[in-house]
Amino acid sequence: SGVKPEYAERFGGQLVLVTGAASGIGRATAFAFAEAGARVVAVDRDAEGAGRTAEMARLIGAPEAWGETVDVSDEQAMEKLASKVASEYGVVDVLVNNAGIGLTGSFFETTSEEWKRVLDVNLWGVIHGSRIFGAQMTARGQGGHIVNTSSAAAFQPSRALPAYSTSKAAVLMLSECLRAELADQGIGVSAICPGIVNTNITATTRFAGVTDAAEENRRQKKASRLYGLRNYPPEKVADAILGAVLHDRAVVPVTPEARGIHALS
Ligand code: NAI
Repeated sequence: SGVKPEYAERFGGQLVLVTGAASGIGRATAFAFAEAGARVVAVDRDAEGAGRTAEMARLIGAPEAWGETVDVSDEQAMEKLASKVASEYGVVDVLVNNAGIGLTGSFFETTSEEWKRVLDVNLWGVIHGSRIFGAQMTARGQGGHIVNTSSAAAFQPSRALPAYSTSKAAVLMLSECLRAELADQGIGVSAICPGIVNTNITATTRFAGVTDAAEENRRQKKASRLYGLRNYPPEKVADAILGAVLHDRAVVPVTPEARGIHALS
């Protein structure tokens, strides 16, 4: 296969946990680690998708792979997952906090409930994952790496994505603070900032103020077409994630438009 030898050397036999692994960037990342010979825990709220990712990861080259079902915003469920992982599979060497949801709508269209949900998943999911699995890494004392999926949206004020962009800017700052805090323990932290990537996120993106199912469907189709036009494959983001861990990069822009953002280049 086309696996880079430096990836196989670094990640072979390591335990890697990826959230949002049933689809898109998370699934591609689970596969890239699998190809490098890592043991993979594929976590998603979509049980069937997580199971399928694990199954395919084994076919691709993971010596072991497991699918685990959890909502990353649920702190207790995350604690439970972490205990299970530690006792049955071991301490995670690489944690990829990738699960996320989209939300489109202006500030005044977006309800408090919608704000809460997007922050619960996109920000609190990363907080729970980093704290719970990060504590296990720290206790073991053999280093590790945490990768958080932020976004180019973290740098781009827009009228369309205030809640989403705020969640991703928070993830970026959290990553940088954690990076400073964990550096002397040999634990690296990276924030990945993709622009538009061709994934299913457009199918789960909520539209603030839209209550009509047909209208929501129409908007999702339109968004999918636009994302498809860019046609940036999730596999390239996955490669950027493995590269960020290997080279211990702090903030990594991916996709041409993300690389074009001044603060990222
Ligand atoms: P996707 O929708 O294909 O995959 C997201 C996965 O996360 C899905 O399998 C979904 O079931 C899972 N998920 C959602 N909420 C969850 C929760 N509460 N608990 C557990 N799992 C949950 O989308 P994609 O594009 O692969 O997104 C991955 C990450 O990349 C997200 O954080 C997203 O915000 C970020 N991103 C995506 C970009 C894009 O253009 N597609 C651009 C920049 C960032």
